[in-house]
Amino acid sequence: MKEYDVKCIRCGARFPKDDIVYTCRNCVSAGPRGEPVSGGLLDILYDYSKIDRERIVKATGEGVWRYRALLPFDDEIKPISINEGNTPLYRCDRLAKSIGIEELWVKHEGLNPSGSFKDRGMTVGVTKGVELGVKGVACASTGNTSASLAIFAAKARLPCYVLLPKGKVALGKVAQAIMHGAKVFSLKGNFDDALRVVRVLCEEESIYLLNSVNPYRLEGQKTIAFEIAEKLGWAVPDRVILPVGNAGNISAIFKGFSELMTLGITTTIPRMTGIQAAGAKPIVNAFKENKEEITPEDNPETIASAIRIGNPVNAAKALHAMRSSGGGAESVTDEEITEAQLLLARQEGIGVEPASAASIAGLKKLLEMGEIERDERIVCVTTGHLLKDPERVIQICEPPIEVEADVDVLRKMVRSPFEAMKCM
Ligand code: F0G
Repeated sequence: MKEYDVKCIRCGARFPKDDIVYTCRNCVSAGPRGEPVSGGLLDILYDYSKIDRERIVKATGEGVWRYRALLPFDDEIKPISINEGNTPLYRCDRLAKSIGIEELWVKHEGLNPSGSFKDRGMTVGVTKGVELGVKGVACASTGNTSASLAIFAAKARLPCYVLLPKGKVALGKVAQAIMHGAKVFSLKGNFDDALRVVRVLCEEESIYLLNSVNPYRLEGQKTIAFEIAEKLGWAVPDRVILPVGNAGNISAIFKGFSELMTLGITTTIPRMTGIQAAGAKPIVNAFKENKEEITPEDNPETIASAIRIGNPVNAAKALHAMRSSGGGAESVTDEEITEAQLLLARQEGIGVEPASAASIAGLKKLLEMGEIERDERIVCVTTGHLLKDPERVIQICEPPIEVEADVDVLRKMVRSPFEAMKCM
């Protein structure tokens, strides 16, 4: 049996492996709004002295399950899997040059099976749910979590309930959730409202919650760090930059790099740098004001709907990741996000949804502010695929030109100046 503990990061209380628990029951206190759900966050901790580092360095298989020596399952487990992970790490020299740095890599998580990094967490979370014998799964979502959960629930033949903020979820994500058979609720409220109610619903109805407050989700997502280090020859970049919403992913990637160091595979941890949208930046505020706790934002707003979150549940883990790695936090405007989305698409051929482009927008801004050295080796994580949010593309790009099936007309048009590359 793989030995690990489910442990509260705040008070250290431990919970049995077969207990369905999301936040600590021992140190429950009133949350920022008086809600009784803010026991400390939980983490999965292994006995690292019993983990053979060779099983990571010489791992076999592909994607998330390649690293099963550092996942909370026995080796015999049959995962609920659709080949998640194993995403490309692109070296982006042209983009690096245009923004004035030496070495830029983009880890394109949009090339996961459902089009976002959420699949890494869901393969682990849903496999754990099946092991625990749950009768159904649920989540609140700005879109990608619901798309991914719907797919893995279908694969596991489990009923799936998802709560989406009404009118605020990109079209591709809604399409995925309904196509794969989830029961989809369009909630009159924002993401934070949806998460608040789904947490209570899951407790009361014994449905398994698969938002990133579930610590098993983050176990899958930490494999982003393993893949980055492995593709760089078990080396660690100076900095990793990624968008932050509910703040699970930055916490997970930090954990992955920390584990590699604990096992003696690597010797440093990258500066973990989180980017939020200017209209939804509670973590950036807390980071800059040196506060331990965030002040929730009531009306978060941004075109990057994936990270339109005012009360991120993993804030404590994310602030620790950014501070203890010497990283940072910055916010970017919707215009900066759009510009970065176009740059990635047109200079590097990498199609991402707006939230993902926040990583590049943040890099540009931090460079201009002098917060990042130009010779740092940087990895930006692009979290979701362009096709997730086609409506935004239509808003920001030239529409197709309607034309007669007439060569003379077309000839004239192709001979006139072509402005598609104007963003550069
Ligand atoms: N990028 C994309 C494309 C996302 O969908 C999300 C989160 C994030 C970044 C932020 O990640 O929450 O771990 O800090 N989407 C969640 C969802 C909230 O419901 O799909 P985080």
